Amino acid sequence: MSKTNAPELKPGNYSTTFGEFIGIGPNGNLFVDGCDVQELAEKYGTPLYIMSENQLRHNYRAFRDAFQKYHPETEILFANKSNNGLAIRHIMNQEGAGGDCFGAQEMYMALLAGTNPKTLVLNGSNKQDDELEMAIANGLCINIDAMDELDRIAAIAERLDCDVDLGIRLKLDLDPLRDRSGVSMHGPGTLKQQSDSTKWGMNREQTVEIVKRAQSMPCMHLKETHFHLSRMSNVPADFAVMAREMITWSAFIRDNTGWTPPCIDIGGGWTFGKWYGTGPNSQLDDASAPTPEDYAKACITAIREETEKHGLPMPKLRLEPGRALSGPAGVAVGRVGAIKEGSSKKWVNLDLSTNHLSWAAVLDWYYHAVPVKDAGAEPVETVDLVGPLCNSDEVGPHRKMPALKRGDYVAFLDAGGYTESSAARYNAQLLPATVLVAGDAADLTTEREQLRDVAGRFRVPPRLLAASFKPE
Ligand SMILES: Cc1ncc(COP(=O)(O)O)c(C=O)c1O
Repeated sequence: MSKTNAPELKPGNYSTTFGEFIGIGPNGNLFVDGCDVQELAEKYGTPLYIMSENQLRHNYRAFRDAFQKYHPETEILFANKSNNGLAIRHIMNQEGAGGDCFGAQEMYMALLAGTNPKTLVLNGSNKQDDELEMAIANGLCINIDAMDELDRIAAIAERLDCDVDLGIRLKLDLDPLRDRSGVSMHGPGTLKQQSDSTKWGMNREQTVEIVKRAQSMPCMHLKETHFHLSRMSNVPADFAVMAREMITWSAFIRDNTGWTPPCIDIGGGWTFGKWYGTGPNSQLDDASAPTPEDYAKACITAIREETEKHGLPMPKLRLEPGRALSGPAGVAVGRVGAIKEGSSKKWVNLDLSTNHLSWAAVLDWYYHAVPVKDAGAEPVETVDLVGPLCNSDEVGPHRKMPALKRGDYVAFLDAGGYTESSAARYNAQLLPATVLVAGDAADLTTEREQLRDVAGRFRVPPRLLAASFKPE
C-alpha cells in the first residue's frame, strides 16, 4: 500500500499523558496535541468532539507496523463506521489506509474523500441494488453475505459491463471458543454462541456453492474471505483461533473448489488499553490490554502454522480496525450546568449526553472523565455525570471528581470512535460540532447542527394543516 503525504510524528510533552498526543499541558489544562481544550470549548461551544489528527495517524501506524513486522503483506482497512468524518478519511488516505464500508453512504463518503476503491471493501448483510451498483461501478471488493447476492451482482455487472472483485463473509464454526466468555456485545453466551447467533456470514457449504458459481462467471474475480470477531473479547489467543480457522476454511474451499483464497480479511474488534481504564464497564481495558504487537504475533503465528499444516501459501492479510484507531484519537467535551444533591448522591449535569456517547448507555461503556481546567486536580467527591435527556442519561456514573461548578468543562477521553458516527437526536437535541487538531492548529470539521436541521426535516400534510387552521 503506498504511503502518501504522511508527516513525521513527534508526540507531545505532557505532565500527565492520556495518549501520545493528549495530556495535561503547561498551564494544567487538558490539551489535545498543542491545543488547550478550554480554549477550544470556549471558541466552538459544547457539546464538542475534538479529534487529534496526529493521534489517529499514530494509532494507524502502530497497527500497520506491528502486523507488517510479522507479515509484510498486510493491509489495514480503517473501519469507516467508527468515525465517518470526511477529514478523518482524508487522513487515512494520506497514511495509505484502505477502508471497510457499510452501506451506500459510507462508500460514497470514502469515494468522495478520494480513497482508492481497490483498497475499499463493501460489507453488509442486505446490500441494496444502488449500493451494489456504486460498488461495482467504482471497483470495490464486495464481500458476499447472502445466497442471492452473487446473481444480483452478476446482473448489475452485466448491465454495466464491469468485472467485479468478490469476497465471501464466513460463518466460522469457532468450536475452540465454545467455552470462552467475553464481553456481551451480541447478546449473552460464549464467544461461539454470540458469533453463531449473529446474522453474518455463509456456512461452509454455502461458501463452496458461491465459489463454484462465481468460478463459472468470467467477470467475477474471487479475492478474499472475510470474518469479523467483533469486540467480544480482547484476548489475542481468541483472535488467533479465528485467524487459524479462516485458514482451515481456505483448505476446505481449496479441496472442494480448487480455489485458494489469496487474501483473508480478519475484520475488526481490536482493542486498546489505557492506564486509567476504558471499555465495557465490567471488563476495563487497562494498561494490561493487548497491544497491536500482541495481536499481530498471535494471529500471524497461527496463520503461518495452519497454512504450513495444509500446504497452503501464506495469504495476504487484511484487517479492519475501527475503534482502536479512532477511539483514542478523540475526546468529547461537555459544559457543567445544574449541580444537584440528593440524600445519597450528587448529580453534575452536562450538556453532553448519551446521545453523544451512546455506548455509555447501550454497552455500559466506560469513558474516563477529567476536568478540562486544572485537569490533574485531586478528586474530592464522587458524582454522577449526567446529560440533559429525559432518561437517566448517565454519561459518567460514580466518578471521582474535583469540585465542579456551573460553566466548567468536563472531557471524556478515548471518545473518537462510534460517538459522532452513532450520535442521536433524541429529545430533539442538535448534533455536536467536531474540531480537528494538529499541533496548535484547530479546524472545524463537522458543523454543529442548527434548529433548522432538526425542525426542517418535518412535514405536515396539507390535510392536517387545513384541519388545524380551519376557522371555528
Ligand atoms: C465488518 C466489520 N469490520 C470492522 C469493524 C470494526 O470493529 P472495531 O471498531 O471494533 O475495530 C466492524 C464493527 O462493527 C465490522 O462490522
